Amino acid sequence: MTNNSSQILHRRVQEKRDEVDRALPPLRLIDDGDIYWTTIEVIQSNVPDYFWHAPAASSYKHHNPFCCGERGLWIHTLMVATAYERLVDSYLEQGAISSYERDLGRAAVLLHDLCKYGDAYEDGDRAAKDHDLQAAALVYDSDLDDWVADAIASHMGPWYEGPEPETSLEELVHLADMAASTKNGTFGVYRKPMEISKLYPNLPEAEL
Ligand SMILES: [Fe+2]
Ligand SMILES: [Fe+2]
Repeated sequence: MTNNSSQILHRRVQEKRDEVDRALPPLRLIDDGDIYWTTIEVIQSNVPDYFWHAPAASSYKHHNPFCCGERGLWIHTLMVATAYERLVDSYLEQGAISSYERDLGRAAVLLHDLCKYGDAYEDGDRAAKDHDLQAAALVYDSDLDDWVADAIASHMGPWYEGPEPETSLEELVHLADMAASTKNGTFGVYRKPMEISKLYPNLPEAEL
């Protein structure tokens, strides 16, 4: 590769990283630099296009109304991050998790539904029954601590193919996902990205 083309490639990688960072503001809550960068890398190299457009679900039964339309999966991910921040301090104060694990959980919530519909999404598709294991497999293959992948594998609790949560961190990620997946309450979104703000001006902003 010539110097010039490697510079162009480097710039493209950097632009994609900035784009992920802008699209998922809760990344900036991660204190540990290694976890922050590796999480961005995993998202940047694996995120399917539909992640930014597809709904989180085709039915309103288990989801917040803001998550059932255009960009719903992206919004759901951001709502789970808000729910997680609300719950995690209690676990930390009780000594159930360390501050390092708090950062691992932050990575897990942003990655948990990355493969919600497998490789591709078509209108009306249902969640892939093994989307918990698919996303976990990507993370097991990355440099992130296996605890992140463990928490992703068990995020659907007793209902999908992954194992049930066992550790406090796994339980916490599962409960944050459950809490945010309701039509009866709306978690705000931290630093609403522009595309979401335009589409849903009434979606509440979270203060974290
Ligand atoms: Fe899920
Ligand atoms: Fe989810």
